Amino acid sequence: MSKQIMTIGHRGAKGHEPENTIASFEKAIKLGCDYVELDVHLADEELFVIHDSSVDRTTNGSGKIAELTRKQIESLDAGNGQKIPTLSEVLAFINGRCGVNIELKGAGTAGPVCDLLNTLLNQSHLSSPILISSFDYRELDEVDKKFRRGLLFDKIRDDWIELARDYSSWSVNLPYKTVSLDNIQKAHLEGFRVLVYTVNDPNDMKKLLSLGVDGIFTDFPDRLLDAITSGEKND
Ligand code: G3P
Ligand code: MG
Repeated sequence: MSKQIMTIGHRGAKGHEPENTIASFEKAIKLGCDYVELDVHLADEELFVIHDSSVDRTTNGSGKIAELTRKQIESLDAGNGQKIPTLSEVLAFINGRCGVNIELKGAGTAGPVCDLLNTLLNQSHLSSPILISSFDYRELDEVDKKFRRGLLFDKIRDDWIELARDYSSWSVNLPYKTVSLDNIQKAHLEGFRVLVYTVNDPNDMKKLLSLGVDGIFTDFPDRLLDAITSGEKND
C-alpha cells in the first residue's frame, strides 16, 4: 500500500483564491487537502490570519497589522471582497473538515494561540488535528507540549536534528531546495516527519514523493493530488 502523504494547502489554496482568507480555505477543503496552513499575527488582542507583518501587500490598506485596531482590520479588503479572518473564525469555518497548521509569525502569538485551542478543547469544539509551526524557535518553545510542533527551517544548519529534538518537534518543515534522501533519512531515523514547502511544480512534487517525504505544502493542492494519484497508478 502507498504511503499516506499529508497534502497541505499553503495559506489555503493561494494559487486559486486570495491567500489566508475563508475563500482560500474553502477552496483547499473542496480540493481535498488533509491540512491547510495559515499564518497568525496578534493585533488589538486578537489573532488575525495574515502572512506579512504589514497589510500592504494583501489588502487595500496600509500599515503594520500590530498597530491597527480590530475595527480598522475588519474594514480591509483582503481580495475579492474577502476579509482578514481571525483564527477563531477560521477554526469554526473549517470545523474538523481538515487539519490546521498554524504558523506563528508575530511575536507573542504562542500563548494566545494555545489559550484559544485549550478553550476550544475544553468545550469539545476543537475537531481539527492541529500542527503549530514557526521559524521563531523561542515562540515555538512557548507552545503547550500537548500540541504537535513543526520546526521550520529556511536552510539546513549543522545542528538541525538536535534543534528538532530540543524543541520536541513532531515534524521538520523544510524548504524544497534543502531536501535530499540523506536529509529525509536523518530526520526519519529520529522519528520526525518531513514536510516540504512550497512546491507548485508537478515534477518537483513527483520527485519528493519518490524520495519518501511525509507531506507537501502547495499553493495548488489539485496539482499535488494529481501527482499522488498518478504515482499510485504507477505503483
Ligand atoms: O509553513 C510553510 C511556509 O508557509 C513557510 O513560509 O513564508 O510561506 O510562511 P511562509
Ligand atoms: Mg506560512
